Amino acid sequence: MTDALILAVNFRAIGLTIAVVVLAGFVLLFIRTSFQAKAELGSELELAPNKKEYLPDEELEGKKLDWSLSFALVVLVIVALSLPFYWLAEPGRQEGAVDVWQQTFERRGEGVYLRTAQCVNCHAAGGAGGSAPYVLRDQDGQFLANTTWLAPALNDLFLRYSEEEVTFILNFGRPGSPMAAWGLPGGGPLTSQQVQTTIEYLQTLEVPTLDPIEIDESDDPVAAREAADRQSAKITAEVERSLADGEFATLGEAVFNLGYYSGFSAGSLSCARCHTGGWSLGPSAPQIDGDPLSVGRAGCGGGDPTGIGFSLCGGDVLRRFPDDSWKLPDGSWAPEGGLVDDQGFFYYMAMDNSRIRLDDKGTPVTSRADDSGNPVPYRILADGNLADCRAISSLWEPESGSPYPFAAGFEVQLDDAGGFVAPPEIGESDLSGTVLRFADGRLGGDCTVVEMPERTSYAQYNFIFNGAERGRGYGRGGQSSEGMMPGFGSVLPPEYIQAVVDYERGL
Ligand code: HEC
Ligand code: HEC
Repeated sequence: MTDALILAVNFRAIGLTIAVVVLAGFVLLFIRTSFQAKAELGSELELAPNKKEYLPDEELEGKKLDWSLSFALVVLVIVALSLPFYWLAEPGRQEGAVDVWQQTFERRGEGVYLRTAQCVNCHAAGGAGGSAPYVLRDQDGQFLANTTWLAPALNDLFLRYSEEEVTFILNFGRPGSPMAAWGLPGGGPLTSQQVQTTIEYLQTLEVPTLDPIEIDESDDPVAAREAADRQSAKITAEVERSLADGEFATLGEAVFNLGYYSGFSAGSLSCARCHTGGWSLGPSAPQIDGDPLSVGRAGCGGGDPTGIGFSLCGGDVLRRFPDDSWKLPDGSWAPEGGLVDDQGFFYYMAMDNSRIRLDDKGTPVTSRADDSGNPVPYRILADGNLADCRAISSLWEPESGSPYPFAAGFEVQLDDAGGFVAPPEIGESDLSGTVLRFADGRLGGDCTVVEMPERTSYAQYNFIFNGAERGRGYGRGGQSSEGMMPGFGSVLPPEYIQAVVDYERGL
């Protein structure tokens, strides 16, 4: 119970006490006046027997009046003061009422979870995650085997999905999987009120968040940090166990498939359950097209029996999220946007640990200045290394055929018809020093090449950290219809998200 609720309950007690005191006062007054009735006096002429002589005018208009008026003033003051106090406590009373309703909703949601819809049969008590029976069929619909499909833990649901996205899942289920459509909009049995109360209940099951920003903004950051450490220790222990037992070859592969052999969190933290066909049936199920972890299947998207497709293999993910940054020479990830020196300039580090300064657009620049005094940018080579060439050819782009380099500074001539005359192509021997051919077809001469660490994509890291949003675009040309890609920033330690990015980019 919250403080507001206690406050509200106290105010009710005070109110009741006042009511009882007032009532008791009236009863006492009644009793007193009944017992103090005057005895008959006799002479009707001077004074009726049931009357007594009252105070004289002097006294009535003096002391008595003053006293009555003062009493009225005191009562007025009390009423005037107690009304604002009543009003002051009103928010507390309202919060108390909200809390009571909240608890009622949560109790009703628990009823849906345990009895009405029996989510508990598949997702287990407390949303710990379990499994659902599933009949595996081949492409022609012929029975293959009785298997089970992992039903992910729901105690990290709102760390991965927004409330709106969860409502969508509950309404429409996961077509093609044992997760049915439960809400009326999807043709299920639960009213939108029941879906809402189920959500209120599921929100009480949450494990601690690992997101540093949410931790800092919580009511008690120290306790939140400790809870996060305990939570991430559990995950780390499981990942390290799976690596020690030889289940997976790399850290990234282990995170991508977290829970495949052990059922940890019923796969709620894995990527493969949505990105690898057949993964949710586990290692013991007979597989239609071979082992889900095999090369050429892992991460290559859905197909029967997984509902949600999306291939990450064969370079798909590299096209969606092109390289946008460099790692550090030791293979670890640099902070997003590069490192910062003590003058506030951003830089990356070359393999020889020298600093490569970035301009304000994030482009790496050499220490040379061009004619107008701006630093000359490096050219980024296909392998991620940087080149600084003192001579760079021009590029001729003919209407047919491929572009070719011609000498920089060569004056292009017009022919009689007013068209350009194609300039002569130059070759590598026309340039001196180290000569490079760039991806666009240009040639560079007198080049120095800076060897750089591996390239990677922060855009991809951020996408996995935040997940997709319903109807919003992501990466290069990506578009989420229902926001089904969860955000993992609150449930996986950052170095695991980095490892999984590395793994995916190598698929
Ligand atoms: C017959 C078993 C079964 C029942 C009953 C069931 N689920 Fe599910 N649920 C599943 C399975 C299996 C999945 C995983 C589907 C997949 O692989 O995409 C799932 C997925 C989900 C998801 C998506 C989780 C995620 O991380 O992708 C949510 C949310 C969910 N269920 C909530 C519920 C709620 C709430 C109820 C009760 C109203 C319920 N489920 C009843 C089997 C079940
Ligand atoms: C519940 C299912 C689900 C899980 C679990 C899941 N994804 Fe996804 N993922 C999707 C869907 C669906 C999309 C397509 C975007 C959308 O519609 O939201 C997607 C898209 C992506 C993309 C972009 C692919 C492209 O080419 O557009 C990447 C990268 C990705 N996921 C990585 C991951 C990683 C890494 C994990 C694990 C940490 C993961 N996903 C876990 C469902 C999932």
